[in-house]
Amino acid sequence: MSVEYDNIFILRYMGNKNRLLNFVVPAIEEVTGEGDTVCDPMAGTHCICYALKNRNKIIANDIQQYSYIIGRALIENNTETISKDEAEEELTGFYLKNQKENRFRFFYENYTDTYFAKEQCLAIDSIRYAIDMVGDKYKQALYLCALMHAMCKVQSTPGHFAQFMPKEHQRILPLRAMDVWEEFLNKCDDFRKIVNNGMENKVYRTDYKELLSNMDDSVSCYYIDPPYSGEQYSRFYHVLETVVKYDNPKLKHKALYRNDRFKSGFCYKRSVESEFELIMKEVSERQSSLVISYSEKGTLPLEKLKKLSSRYFKHVDFRQNSHTHSTLGKGSNNIKEILLILN
Ligand SMILES: C[S@@+](CC[C@H](N)C(=O)[O-])C[C@H]1O[C@@H](n2cnc3c(N)ncnc32)[C@H](O)[C@@H]1O
Repeated sequence: MSVEYDNIFILRYMGNKNRLLNFVVPAIEEVTGEGDTVCDPMAGTHCICYALKNRNKIIANDIQQYSYIIGRALIENNTETISKDEAEEELTGFYLKNQKENRFRFFYENYTDTYFAKEQCLAIDSIRYAIDMVGDKYKQALYLCALMHAMCKVQSTPGHFAQFMPKEHQRILPLRAMDVWEEFLNKCDDFRKIVNNGMENKVYRTDYKELLSNMDDSVSCYYIDPPYSGEQYSRFYHVLETVVKYDNPKLKHKALYRNDRFKSGFCYKRSVESEFELIMKEVSERQSSLVISYSEKGTLPLEKLKKLSSRYFKHVDFRQNSHTHSTLGKGSNNIKEILLILN
């Protein structure tokens, strides 16, 4: 039976579980009771946490700042909302001021005619300036989510920021003609309602190893969805990291990457097994359940993952789902998504 879980779409994100809620969420529900605490140490777009929020207390984390901002908006925040009308009223004056005075101009100066057109860069800088003027941190986070959504909609790329389209690409003209301010305002209406579970949900931005070493025993279930290929998220989404941090980073390479990118151990054959082992050891010692999402074609071969699981857990339940998996620009592959439910 298909259930309509709470869901607010923000980003087309590599490996996100937005379209797999009905596969993943019931598995977590099976090993937890209502009101129990669920921890997602690599939460990405936070869609699994948000789907569970009306039932569980959530502790979420990711190494990337843009992910932290999504978590702050959707998970930690129980009370604040925004709308298109409110955004127009609250932000238009500051937006126009920056259009005129160019106080914030990092995107204009660095990304013109790369990922965005000149006018789009100016609009991004000006919306970002206007958001800086908002007092409440949860409203700021909601507005930043709407801005990230608008940027992803107009980006001249194959669907991520590892590279931009060449000038002569046939799709570039319609993409460059899109209005960032209009896309931003329209998206604000998706945040008129946010699930309020009345609990003190917590969101962090750190390496999952640090998070795990600081957790007490109150977590009933850990859900992990680590990177499963050699592609680093910090390379694919560096522009989102920069728009939320707005910290004037040094950029390098033709694709204008930040020079402080995090490299995840899950992306390398030499370290992926020890990363999984560390999590299994920590979670089994706390006697919590562990639900793992992975791909049948992941960096760690499935047989090794299963063997490792039975070393640390008594019960190993294995499920798989045929999922048309987007490879963001390289076409679509029918790759099986797998779930391991361990306790
Ligand atoms: C497959 S994505 C998660 C997708 C998420 N479940 C969703 O539905 O949007 C993997 C995430 O792991 C994060 N990550 C990778 N290594 C990490 C680490 N060592 N500590 C914390 N987060 C990490 C990445 O930033 C990325 O957001």
